[in-house]
Amino acid sequence: MAKNYTAINWDDIEDELDEFVWDKATAQFWLDTRVPVSQDMSDWQSLTDDERDVVKKAVGGLALLDTLQSEAGCHVMRDDVLTRKETAVLNDFLLMESIHAKSYGTILTSLNVRKDIDAIYSWMNNNERMQYKAQVVNEIYKTGDGLQQKIASVFLEGILYYSNFFTPLWYLGNNKLANLAEIIKLVIRDESVHGTYLGYKFKLGYQQLSEPEQKS
Ligand SMILES: [Fe+2]
Ligand SMILES: [Fe+2]
Repeated sequence: MAKNYTAINWDDIEDELDEFVWDKATAQFWLDTRVPVSQDMSDWQSLTDDERDVVKKAVGGLALLDTLQSEAGCHVMRDDVLTRKETAVLNDFLLMESIHAKSYGTILTSLNVRKDIDAIYSWMNNNERMQYKAQVVNEIYKTGDGLQQKIASVFLEGILYYSNFFTPLWYLGNNKLANLAEIIKLVIRDESVHGTYLGYKFKLGYQQLSEPEQKS
């Protein structure tokens, strides 16, 4: 007979950080619909065409990369967990990635007409450099081992995200687009939890390797 399917017992502690991160990540749950991005419209209209173009591409790039996190990144990493609660934590991350990806769409639709929105999606879905970034990371998600996937995820949510966060935060520093920046700040708060947790799990997994494996 097949082995019994067992429930996760949250009273059992395999790794204290799992429950700590679960509590923190679930407590900071948010939805894009609670942020009134359309109130940024007068700021938006005060920008030049070129400035709007930069913001649209920064937000569009984030939509592409967060879609990848929601469909591949947090999904594949669930195959290489060290504890069962880690799966629960990754499930939370996975949902938040879908909310992040949608929230960038909310920003674009709150400030633009349909024709412009279609143009920005078409740009990020076809731009050579954006596609290069997404495809390099996706390739590691598809073919890498659990440790390589964690590194790819932390790089994606670190360097690649932050290069796109810069523009909206720069406008915030100039007292513009405050609601758009509010969404970015909520995303950053989540990503810092994701990066810390995955970096920690990487370290644990790496320590379990033999010395020659660590070097290879
Ligand atoms: Fe995200
Ligand atoms: Fe994330």
